[in-house]
Parts: sequence; structure tokens; C-alpha cells
Amino acid sequence: MLRSLTAALVAAAAFAFVADAALAQGQPKGLPEGKGKTEVEAICSGCHVTGLIPASLGYTRDHWNKLIATMIDLSPSADTQNAVLDYLSTNFPPNERRKPRLMPGNYDVKFTEWVMPQLGSRVRDPMQHADGSIWYAGQYGNLIGRLDPRTGQAREYKLPAGAMPHTVQLDNEGRPWYSGNKNGTVGRIDPATGEATVFKMPDPKSDPHTLAFNKDGILFFSFQAANLIGRLDPRTGDLKVVSAPNPKSQPYDVKIAQDGTVWVSCNARGCFLKVDPVTMQVTEIPFPLGGSTRRFDIAPDGMIWFNNSNRGGIGRYNPKTGEFKEWQSPSGPTSHPYGALWLDGAYWYNESGMRPDPLVRFDPATETFQSWPIPSGDIHSGILRNMRASREGNLLIHQTATNRVIQVTPQRRAAAAQ
Ligand code: HEC
Repeated sequence: MLRSLTAALVAAAAFAFVADAALAQGQPKGLPEGKGKTEVEAICSGCHVTGLIPASLGYTRDHWNKLIATMIDLSPSADTQNAVLDYLSTNFPPNERRKPRLMPGNYDVKFTEWVMPQLGSRVRDPMQHADGSIWYAGQYGNLIGRLDPRTGQAREYKLPAGAMPHTVQLDNEGRPWYSGNKNGTVGRIDPATGEATVFKMPDPKSDPHTLAFNKDGILFFSFQAANLIGRLDPRTGDLKVVSAPNPKSQPYDVKIAQDGTVWVSCNARGCFLKVDPVTMQVTEIPFPLGGSTRRFDIAPDGMIWFNNSNRGGIGRYNPKTGEFKEWQSPSGPTSHPYGALWLDGAYWYNESGMRPDPLVRFDPATETFQSWPIPSGDIHSGILRNMRASREGNLLIHQTATNRVIQVTPQRRAAAAQ
């Protein structure tokens, strides 16, 4: 199915975001002069800043072709396509500027990839339903989708105008909810009709971000830029929104502990926000080493495992004793750990500052790391922003640039093979 270039550009021009993680690396942002620069600047700034190009892994002509084909279809205009590919491959061949330190170990992983239909939609946050289907958000495409992993077919549901979903989250009945990050709403979609039920925030400019449901079906969520935390009872519509104790904390990931306490990470400060689910009183718990964290997870023993993204490390916080412990990630201070998942006795995350973007497994028993570059077909590209467990206990990840939902199946190698 070919989309015309003009239609794709009109669609792309409707939104322009700054892709944050990759640009945090201090790479040059301007594009070098050369034939094809005008075309690249016009076409490649539709969805994100062109600074992502010099910050990338760099590719051969064939691999640039494969990468951009996941974002935009340039094939209707062969001249434009050739100009773009010549420019990119001449000026941005493969490089090792952000090379990760990959760690060996005794696990094998199998990556199973599915490519979602809408090009350049920033596919993210896959989550599996009890029926086996996998929901995901297509943030730039203003959609959420449902993938049938058995057939590889996906159905995508358009959201109300301007929602730009940061995530999709299934509630306790398996209904898909989205955060209307750009229109101050949260909502859910009826998968049979595609109809949305929308809950408006008091401030339409506020930005619902990550969603989490507690055992009673109450929704808790963060607002990154608005510096808020929200609670919604979907049955009554009762909504309460409170501020983080300190300005510019950037409330980010949200997880709910066994005892019902709501935990939120701070993406602009080294802290957790501990939220009382009844009173919505928020207490800040600062990290002793500072930094900032995007995502975290809570292990069955109550320990909170987190990424110290700014410091290029991971950490463990014991809410009972208040004790913190941190480890440096193998690729060092610029590795920018991002997604987070506690799975089967280990802490998994990715080093989003590196290219290729490695998936990392940390074994708390031996305090050792193992890592693997995350594939997108036969190329590597980021960005993994969130990960969750599948129903069968594997990892569900994604790559936003290449529109992929990916399942990771880890397997410990037999002792004899080590
Ligand atoms: C329709 C939207 C769209 C258009 C148009 C688009 N991209 Fe992208 N691109 C994306 C998305 C989505 C990402 C992931 C961004 C993120 O997660 O922040 C991305 C990321 C990237 C990255 C970073 C990959 C990495 O490993 O971090 C590069 C490089 C890139 N795009 C190149 C291009 C080039 C070159 C063009 C023009 C030919 C282009 N893009 C046009 C959607 C688009």
C-alpha cells in the first residue's frame, strides 16, 4: 500500500516533537551542506528535529533506505528518494560514536519483531491482553493499535483530535486506555466500535503521561511538564489532581506497590514521589547521589529498581529501610538507561544513549550485567522507551523509530554449554 509523498508530508507536518533521549548526547545539530540537504531538511523535520540524523548510528545507503522506509514512503518520487539517500549515506555513514559496551553472559535471547502499519507513528508501550493480543500506542499517529501476534495483523484506532497518546494501558477488565498527552485528557477506546470515552483534565494544556490502575480499578497518572499527579475513578468520574512538592520535578513513570502505595519517578530531579492513594498526599524521596530517573519497577519483595538515567546507572531502593544502592551501567555515564522491568529475578533495562541501543539484564545475585543490541530487521535503531512483561513471562519492548513491537524471549544456557 503506497501512500503518496504529499499526503505523508501533510500528515507529518501536523506535529513536530523534539526527540529527547538521542539529543541528550551533545551531537552536532546542524546538517552539513551538500546536494540533497534541502530535501532532507524539508522531509525529515516533519515529525522530529533533524538533529536525530547526526546523532544516529549512521548507515549505508541500503540501510538508510530501510530505516526511513519505516517512517515515510519516498518511493513515489524517485528523484527525491535518491537525493535523500545519497545525502544521508555520503554524510552519515556507519559510525561508532555512541558504541555500547556489550556484556557477555549465560543467557540467550530471541527477538520476535512485528512492524506496525502506520509509518512513523512512534510505536511504543506494548501491553498484552489476556486474549493474547498486544496493544500499543502510536504517539505521532494519534492512534492506539491492537496486534494479533499469531497473524502479525494489527488494527489501529484513531483517537480524538490532538490526543497524541503517550501510552496505552489496559485496565483490570482489559479495556485499553490512553493518555491524551497533547489535549489534556485520558480516555478509553471500545475495541468493537472504536468509540472513545473521554475524561477531561481541569487544565486542557496539562499533559497526562503514564497510566497505572490499582487493584480497585482506580487510575493514577503522571503529568510530566505540568508537574502533577492525577487520580481518576472511572466509575464515578471523580478526578483529583495534585502538584509535586517541588517545581519542575517532571513526574514520569507510575507504579503501584503491593500495599497500594503509588510511586512516581522524577525525570528532572533525582527523586521518587510517594503518593498516598486515599489522601493524594505526596512525599518526595530524594536520591542520595542525585541524577534523574525515567522508568522503574517494583519487585515482588517490594524493592524498587530504577534507572538513574542522568548518571548512566541503575539503582535499588528499599522503601522499608530507606536504603539506596546504585551501580554504573556498562556503557557508562552517557548510557541513559530508560525502560525498566523486573522479570523473573532480574532487572532489565536499555541503554538508550548508545547505538545500537542495548537491552541489558542485571542479575542482582551476582551483580553482573549482560547485554544485547536490539534489532530492527537487519539494522539497529532506537528508541526503546518502556517495557512490560508478556502474559507468558517474556519481555515486550518496541523501537519507536522503526515502528516495531518486539517480544524478547530469554533463556538460560544449559550449564554444560557455558
Ligand atoms: C512520519 C514521521 C516521521 C518522518 C517524516 C521522519 N521520521 Fe525519523 N523518526 C520518526 C520516529 C517516530 C522516530 C523515533 C523518535 C523518538 O522516539 O523520539 C524517528 C527517529 C529517527 C532517527 C533516530 C533513530 C535512532 O536510532 O535514534 C533518525 C536517524 C531518523 N528518524 C531519520 C529520519 C530521516 C532521515 C527522515 C527523512 C527522510 C525522517 N526521519 C523522517 C518518525 C519520522
